[in-house]
Amino acid sequence: GLGTSAALARRPSVTGAELRSELPLPPPFRVPLPIPAVLAPAGTSGGADRYEIVQRETTLEILPGVRTRAWTYGGTLPGPTIEARRGRPITVTHRNDLPVPTVVHLHGGRTPADSDGYPTDLVLPEGWTEPTMGHGSGHGMGNMRDPHAVLSRRTRDYTFPMDQRPTLLWYHDHRMDFTAPAIWRGLAGLQIVRDDAEEALGLPSGSRELPLMIADRAFTAEGELAYPALDPTLRERPGVLEPYLAGVLGDVILVNGAPWPVHEVDAARHRLRILNASNARHYELEAVLDDGRRLDLVQIGADQGLLAAPVVHRLLPIAPAERYDVVVDFSAVPVGGLVRIVNRLGSGRTRDVMAFRVARAAADDSRVPRVLSADLPGWRRADAVRVRDFSFRAGQLDHGRGWLIGGLPFDPARSDVTVGLGDVEVWRMVADVHHPVHLHLVGFRVLSRNGRPPLPHDAGLKDTVSLRPGEAVEIITRFDGYRGRFLFHCHNAEHEDMAMMANLQVV
Ligand code: C2O
Ligand code: CU
Repeated sequence: GLGTSAALARRPSVTGAELRSELPLPPPFRVPLPIPAVLAPAGTSGGADRYEIVQRETTLEILPGVRTRAWTYGGTLPGPTIEARRGRPITVTHRNDLPVPTVVHLHGGRTPADSDGYPTDLVLPEGWTEPTMGHGSGHGMGNMRDPHAVLSRRTRDYTFPMDQRPTLLWYHDHRMDFTAPAIWRGLAGLQIVRDDAEEALGLPSGSRELPLMIADRAFTAEGELAYPALDPTLRERPGVLEPYLAGVLGDVILVNGAPWPVHEVDAARHRLRILNASNARHYELEAVLDDGRRLDLVQIGADQGLLAAPVVHRLLPIAPAERYDVVVDFSAVPVGGLVRIVNRLGSGRTRDVMAFRVARAAADDSRVPRVLSADLPGWRRADAVRVRDFSFRAGQLDHGRGWLIGGLPFDPARSDVTVGLGDVEVWRMVADVHHPVHLHLVGFRVLSRNGRPPLPHDAGLKDTVSLRPGEAVEIITRFDGYRGRFLFHCHNAEHEDMAMMANLQVV
């Protein structure tokens, strides 16, 4: 039968100070939910598709009637969605028309190292002559040189084999020392991998499958995105370095780039593919009816695709960069009723996320099968050839405080962890405050939390795990796929920029 999540054992702390927007904010549930456009291939050859994306600054209407400059993939926020098929490679040509160097990483992609978006493999804008990092956010790492960096001028082709389980991925900027402000300014988009087996399950599809990219932001009085970085291209806000250290939170919740949107739905099952693309904000989501009752959130998938069997939640915690694939059945909601998606960790305006208005009765032939997938890796502790320990803690950098893995700040020139291709390893990770830890290249299973079994939302194959304050979490994975230099890091984007990242060499 379906598992039911018990109440969560610990309350996560919300770290970081919230930036306050300096202009009137719209009421909730007025702006329609945008669905990012699906990108059409620019060409197809040899069984592979080729896409083109221009990274450029543009002016968007994010808040109604307010003009906001953003850095975009292709002129929209989120960028266009790329629809891929398992086993069918794609190449994305990115052209950088932004005023700063960029790096593209496909989060959750099983990608060879040369297309994985290593933070020093910069795509330089036109006229950019400085080969070093040089212009980071100014928090201590910006001037490092990386002897192995592969610089591209203006454009770069990223090739993704797509040899992986179907799931929701996302692409975002990954420049060293500058990822957080780049994502905050808009550099994030979705990529969905599909295959025949998943499509044969009969899950809700078409207009009843909705990607939901949740991200918080704050706005200046002029309508610009507020961010406390020291970079001269961004608005400088002296005195807010401490919130930067903890992670930047905004007071406006965007879903697919719209503030507290509303979406009209049939009274039927819907598949919600939720991504927390926030820099630092954690959510605990629930679906609340007008009368206070809560709908089941039936989890069918995790970061790296379908679960073995559905898990029913009433409350779904989601850390930065995590994805949850969830089916919600609106058939019991009276026509005209509003279902609010609420963040139980929020307060005031950040408690609301979005809403669904049940607009009409409708037939529903979708299903949620009791067996969703049979190819989930089931590594056991005994399979591991090695157990490693890592601490994720605050510490001292050269130029101030930052965040360290195993006591060390990120250094692209240092070798941190070397694993053998095909090896199974157990990693035991301990945290001071909340750190969502992400491994490139591989998916992993959560083995334990503080020596106890994982929580219901740890089910399935993940690529990001939420280490909660004071917690010790064990994960297990097999390092297969490709040899080369990859990364693991905290996905609180400010922690990442402030050195909480390490090299993962697969040999
Ligand atoms: Cu979503 Cu290394 O990143
Ligand atoms: Cu962190």
